[in-house]
Amino acid sequence: MTTPRYLRTALSGLALLTATLLAACDGGSSSAAASAQAAGQVADKNAVKPGSADQIALGRYLTKAADCAACHTTATGAPFAGGVELASPFGKFYGSNITPDKEHGIGKWSADQFYKALHDGVTPDKHLYPAMPYTSYRSMTRADTDAIYAYLMQQKPVAVPTRAPDLSFPYNMRFGMMFWNVPFLKDQLADASTGKSAMWQRGQYLSNALGHCAECHTPRGAFGQLDLSKSLTGSALGRVAAPNITPAGLAAVGWTAPDLQTFFATGIAPQGSAYGEMFPVVHLSTQYLSKDDLTAVTTYLMGDQPLPPQPIKTINADAMELDAGKRLYTAVCAGCHGFQGDGKPHVAVAMKGNSTVRNADPHNLIVAMLDGIEAQKFPGTESLQDMPGFAGQLNDKELAQLSNFLRATWGGQPASITADQIKALRLSAAAH
Ligand code: HEC
Ligand code: HEC
Ligand code: HEC
Repeated sequence: MTTPRYLRTALSGLALLTATLLAACDGGSSSAAASAQAAGQVADKNAVKPGSADQIALGRYLTKAADCAACHTTATGAPFAGGVELASPFGKFYGSNITPDKEHGIGKWSADQFYKALHDGVTPDKHLYPAMPYTSYRSMTRADTDAIYAYLMQQKPVAVPTRAPDLSFPYNMRFGMMFWNVPFLKDQLADASTGKSAMWQRGQYLSNALGHCAECHTPRGAFGQLDLSKSLTGSALGRVAAPNITPAGLAAVGWTAPDLQTFFATGIAPQGSAYGEMFPVVHLSTQYLSKDDLTAVTTYLMGDQPLPPQPIKTINADAMELDAGKRLYTAVCAGCHGFQGDGKPHVAVAMKGNSTVRNADPHNLIVAMLDGIEAQKFPGTESLQDMPGFAGQLNDKELAQLSNFLRATWGGQPASITADQIKALRLSAAAH
């Protein structure tokens, strides 16, 4: 492959500059990390012994809390053998084989090298792309990455090669990540809530470092970086958008701390069910958090002084429009969601007060109606049949009338949805 000379020169100049910058940053952060770690060792009397059963059990818990399986275990493949496909605007990524296989996995890696992959996005042979959320894992403690390492090293080695990403130029140039990391790799993500309590701090660590909630719930800038001035205000990277989960965003659609804990533990709360990319988060990760850790996550999301949940506003809307929507609802939705929108136990969630219906942005409401939701097995005994998609059965005008009826009647939102908004989301379905 030939690269034009000017480009090569420009790039090597930049690379030099970046390498210098990186070395400077690296020195600073690793010495800071080392002293923080030393302080941690003094403070933490309960530190687990390397290689002990306690360390491996801790590693297992943390691997779930950090949801490594979401991207490193496919539905049909061996645990952590990789292959999960991750679509992005830059192309397709595949989770790597992180079993202890010596050739295809991380069997030859030391705990130091493992820490560097999670903390800096740098492996013994390459710079990782931020599809691997090291931007969040960066703030994991060394004790915690060591425990995850110990746990992964106990897994069965699987000789499956890692699939290289399918990226378009210029994103297929791995070394470009050096340039990306300098402005965008931050030691600490910005908080959306305020708090000081021990619970809040533990929640900050669980949400930012382990749970990497920001990777989906914080909008991204032009280079794919997290826009930290808008932490957790919501982002529409996937077909189902990740909603605003700031204290104000949660209060606006009626969430309380106990309901959030129920949602993370079971996937179903009075405000609705987990679906889209949030379902695997609950299924593989948050359902396994201890009661205390669930309290910590909700304390971090809502802050030490939570805002009260807002009541559903009364909306004045055009009676004809509402009537048309109500007739459609009664004919096609009420059989599952109930005539009064109360839902039906073991059949479907309530529409009255549902956070998707109450969301000012109608995106997810429209997508749920168009695409439906596949059958999901929730933690415990609850499993819901699939919600059919209505893209083929209802036209744009009808789906707008339905949205307006739902929003104005049970969501406290204006009946302002137009057929064009439905059409736009119908057409964009193919892009996901
Ligand atoms: C959101 C998806 C996602 C999650 C969650 C995730 N990873 Fe990854 N990981 C990836 C992708 C994608 C790659 C490959 C990136 C690339 O090709 O640059 C990767 C690469 C890696 C690598 C480098 C492997 C190699 O051989 O180069 C390691 C190690 C790793 N991940 C460990 C973990 C651990 C441990 C966790 C949980 C703490 C985790 N990952 C969670 C997506 C993810
Ligand atoms: C066959 C039963 C069934 C019918 C008919 C049905 N739904 Fe659903 N709906 C469900 C189930 C089940 C869920 C929850 C799925 C899950 O999360 O696993 C759901 C979820 C939703 C959601 C997402 C909210 C949430 O919290 O999960 C919306 C919005 C929704 N339905 C609206 C509608 C509308 C509007 C109609 C009529 C056009 C409709 N549904 C018809 C069963 C149904
Ligand atoms: C892989 C992407 C992804 C990750 C990671 C993720 N979420 Fe979500 N989340 C979503 C999507 C998409 C939705 C919308 C569907 C739904 O309501 O279930 C959602 C919904 C939610 C909701 C419901 C909001 C509402 O008003 O209905 C809460 C609360 C939430 N997420 C919290 C979290 C927390 C806390 C974390 C980290 C532990 C997290 N999420 C990690 C994608 C993600």
